[in-house]
Amino acid sequence: MGAHLHDIRYVRIGSDDLDESVRFATDILGLEVVHRDAGAAYLRGDDRDHNICYTKGRSTGQVLGFEMPDMASLDAAAAMFEKAGVAVRHGTSDEREQRRVRGLITLRDPTGNVIDLVARPDHSGKRYFGTRDAGITSFSHVGLRTSNASADELFWTSMLGAKVSDWIGDAPLLRIDEVHHKIALFPSAFPGVQHVNFQVESIDDIMRSYYHLKKHNVRIVFGPGRHPTSGARFLYFQGPDEIIYEYSSGVRMITAEDEKTYIPRQFPMAESSFCMWGSVPDIPEFRTPPSGAPIRRAA
Ligand SMILES: [Fe+2]
Repeated sequence: MGAHLHDIRYVRIGSDDLDESVRFATDILGLEVVHRDAGAAYLRGDDRDHNICYTKGRSTGQVLGFEMPDMASLDAAAAMFEKAGVAVRHGTSDEREQRRVRGLITLRDPTGNVIDLVARPDHSGKRYFGTRDAGITSFSHVGLRTSNASADELFWTSMLGAKVSDWIGDAPLLRIDEVHHKIALFPSAFPGVQHVNFQVESIDDIMRSYYHLKKHNVRIVFGPGRHPTSGARFLYFQGPDEIIYEYSSGVRMITAEDEKTYIPRQFPMAESSFCMWGSVPDIPEFRTPPSGAPIRRAA
């Protein structure tokens, strides 16, 4: 019996240059600065207190935060992990303040990615007002790197209650609610955040951003295209600190009714499994291994 994740909440990204991270997040991505101090910058694209917190120095690392429904389920999750031999650290009052949450535990997935589970995170009473009209509707998912996809998939499904919506090669796209995926695990030689997704209202927003990004010489690494898995139209581009950002629109919902009959589909590790329109990803984790290299199979 795993924990129940209510929703993805935030990502914390160590940044070599906070000013540059904020410039990119506002002028290019279209986020709103919520708070800035000497050590961190908080930004958002929806009504959560913040979606991204850039922390000073890349060595401060990367953290992915998920919200639990309440304090009791956070405590139950801590007890479950301790019983299972997964090291859990309870957040200090300073760490809770930094994350704008009332409850916090921190643990690592088998790859070593740092995961925060939080309860009662701050919401904002003010409407998100972006620095440009990017059409962002919400922070929606993160791609995480995995050094052992089958072990991490088991961790997320058995202990954190996620469900596989589809696989591309060994990479599972995982849902925790009706949205096709709120997290995806991509085989990689090192841990960390692989991409950060914001939903936008429509394909028009994606195409408007495509021209905006080109005008500002932002490196577009994939798209515009459409995922055959989730059905979402997408655009991926490169930000500071080697973080890839994604806009997408029209992600598939797997409703309670669909749950009765839905089974995950296996897509091969091929370009056509990432884009049904023919766009070719310039993203190493989305590319077919060189011919002759073995494609690892999930256990
Ligand atoms: Fe994505």
